[in-house]
Amino acid sequence: MSRIAVVPGSFDPVTLGHLDVIGRAANIFDELHVLVVHNPGKSALLPIAQRVSLIQDSIADAKLGDNILVTSWSVGLLVDYCTDVGASVLVKGIRSQVDVAYETPMAIVNRNLAGVETIFMLPDPAHAHVSSSLVRQVASLGGDVAPYVPDAVAAFLQKDRG
Ligand code: PNS
Repeated sequence: MSRIAVVPGSFDPVTLGHLDVIGRAANIFDELHVLVVHNPGKSALLPIAQRVSLIQDSIADAKLGDNILVTSWSVGLLVDYCTDVGASVLVKGIRSQVDVAYETPMAIVNRNLAGVETIFMLPDPAHAHVSSSLVRQVASLGGDVAPYVPDAVAAFLQKDRG
């Protein structure tokens, strides 16, 4: 039986920290689904389709393996997607205790809803300070985000700025 895991998130945009976790998780599971989910609690920078495309480009550039599928989900619960595709595990990157506090209630609710377990994974400490919200802010104010994001994202944001 193949072990399928899902890495869900806003990925607005995908960062080097995300990519690090995606690569590590892809080494552990037979199939990894990177799932872009709209988070109504956050104001979006990029359309969902653009986020998917940037993740695909970043994974290809980093040669992270051919067991990774990138897609999006906008209807219903995250665990409904997991049930649909036969995934029993969610993988979340954890940078700090703040992330643990944010992720723990969601992990418990997802397990109660559908028996889907959550695994917390530590990214390379080099990326511990990187977040999409920081990248959005720096990019919107004209700063250089290249140290924090894959090349495809840096190029896209640069082009977008004109
Ligand atoms: O990258 P983010 O914004 O921290 O990701 C949060 C996300 C999108 C994974 C979370 O908001 C989520 O799981 N949304 C799906 C809706 C859902 O299933 N909610 C109930 C269980 S938490």
